[in-house]
Amino acid sequence: MEPLLITEKLTKDFGGVRALDNLDLEVREGLIQSVIGPNGAGKTTLFNVISGVIPATSGVVRFNGEIITGLPPHRISNMGTTRTFQNLQLFCDMTVLENVMVGMHMRSAGGFFSSSFRLPWIVAEERRIRDRSIEWLQLVGLEMESEKIAGSLPFGRQRILELARALATDPRLLMLDEPAAGLNLKETQDLAGLIKRISKLDITILLVEHDMDLVMEVSDHVSVMDQGRKIAEGDPETIRNDEAVLKAYLGEE
Ligand SMILES: Nc1ncnc2c1ncn2[C@@H]1O[C@H](COP(=O)(O)OP(=O)(O)OP(=O)(O)O)[C@@H](O)[C@H]1O
Ligand SMILES: [Mg+2]
Repeated sequence: MEPLLITEKLTKDFGGVRALDNLDLEVREGLIQSVIGPNGAGKTTLFNVISGVIPATSGVVRFNGEIITGLPPHRISNMGTTRTFQNLQLFCDMTVLENVMVGMHMRSAGGFFSSSFRLPWIVAEERRIRDRSIEWLQLVGLEMESEKIAGSLPFGRQRILELARALATDPRLLMLDEPAAGLNLKETQDLAGLIKRISKLDITILLVEHDMDLVMEVSDHVSVMDQGRKIAEGDPETIRNDEAVLKAYLGEE
């Protein structure tokens, strides 16, 4: 079966900096796949190019068999991709539940704002969105905090909320950019369990993460980037013992 996501010779230049350098990557449906690499390797740029927020310099991204390079971000997300951000992006003044409902509105049937005359329909749709959002909060363990203001939650809970909001778009592919950043050990272990539960919902996961324990625990497959290139890939055990990987992380030979 063709992989859900493919990048072919994907390249991104920022002036003189080649952030992605002829990157070939395949993400197979149903797996938890990780991309690791030192700071500046190009991991976030990869997410930015896949999701269409910045254009590729050259190369192609395919999702579900279709070329998506060059499409606007909302088209790419409507096809079933979503992502979280390395720096939290929440509506801090809104409640936890409202933040998740916003995620769902992004995917709900067109015309939500189209007419104030079809009131019963809108009420029913609003209720459906609310109920479904509560289910997502239950999945991530935030349902008790649903009426709290998002900005008042501890940092670790805000990260989980961002994840719930991403899930509320009902993605086929979920891209997580350093979800464990700033989490303590317990929170990181909980996150590992949550990522595995999400995977069981038939959501393919592409994980960018510096926490190697987390990567090694949850990943089916790991790709290693350095300076925009893929320098190794394989199962977690292979990667753990790979010379090139050790070199990239330790800096010098
Ligand atoms: N918008 C931009 N303009 C110019 N250069 C950029 C831009 N975004 C990224 N870069 C450069 O591209 C390279 C890759 O950056 P990127 O943020 O993708 O790395 P990363 O692997 O996500 O690193 P980190 O682990 O620190 O998050 C870096 O040299 C960075 O400075
Ligand atoms: Mg990054």
